[in-house]
Amino acid sequence: MDALTLDAAALDERFRIADRLHFAVLHGGIVAILSHDGARAVVALQGGQVLTYSTPDCGEVLWLSPQAKLGTGKAVRGGIPICWPWFGPHPEGGGRPAHGFVRTQFWRVVCATAAGAATRLTLACEEGVDGHPHWPHSARLHLEIALGRTLSLSLTTQNTGPSAFELTQALHSYFRIADITSVEVRGLETVRFIDQLDPAGLKSEPGPVRISGEVDRIYQSLTTPVTIRDDPARLIEIASRGSASAVLWNPWIEKSARLGDMGCDGYRHMLCFETANAGADAVTLAPGESHTLTTAISASVQAPPG
Ligand code: BG6
Repeated sequence: MDALTLDAAALDERFRIADRLHFAVLHGGIVAILSHDGARAVVALQGGQVLTYSTPDCGEVLWLSPQAKLGTGKAVRGGIPICWPWFGPHPEGGGRPAHGFVRTQFWRVVCATAAGAATRLTLACEEGVDGHPHWPHSARLHLEIALGRTLSLSLTTQNTGPSAFELTQALHSYFRIADITSVEVRGLETVRFIDQLDPAGLKSEPGPVRISGEVDRIYQSLTTPVTIRDDPARLIEIASRGSASAVLWNPWIEKSARLGDMGCDGYRHMLCFETANAGADAVTLAPGESHTLTTAISASVQAPPG
């Protein structure tokens, strides 16, 4: 047995819950596989990243790059990567990676339970957070993943250092969709956004959002759920807590080609809607304070009209 398989077996021995949670090696790394009432989520310990989430009615809800490979030192594209402790490019640049540095860190398993209406897994990111060369602060970072009627992720940051720091972050969810040109996003009507492709003032749109080109927006002052209506029948609802901002992103054709890990026509079959603390919604944490960012995702099939 190789080292990864042995590590997965050791985690299995300690945390396995019959029929609800076990560990395995997938995409070249260790993953936890959670089940609940026919729903299933695969979570990589690299990055604490949910890779897939499926329900019996809707099939796969998240998009994952066909090139997904763990353990390469690069973030995997797809699922729900965690952007922390900054969202997007760092304002000071200087070789700091976009979206922070925990996407490639190994997260430790804290506990797993299957009581009540959900299978839960709690992870902690400890490796390299304190004393990171690009981040002169200390924090405790926990992620609770609950798979029940919905898939919910709660990311808690506690400032364990002696001085305050500002945090921007996102639960960067990649949703799998049938065709980007027929998607409709509701709940963003009249909400003002920073257009990252044309950052001159705030913009807004009166109706539901439809996508026909590259889109990269940070919606501000958003506190109500958003729905993605896909194909005629599938509806994905995203409800957020601890957040007043969200990111809507699709790289379209040219940027996809530059990214190199979108697969053939990948942009057509994904849309990112990211529960965030970004833009003016940055969070300041005084010593000892903590903040929890939550996204709750539900997917359903709508009855045909008439
Ligand atoms: C989005 C940003 O959240 O993530 C985009 O708004 C960015 O600007 C995208 O291109 C992907 O980022 P990365 O680092 O995963 O390639």
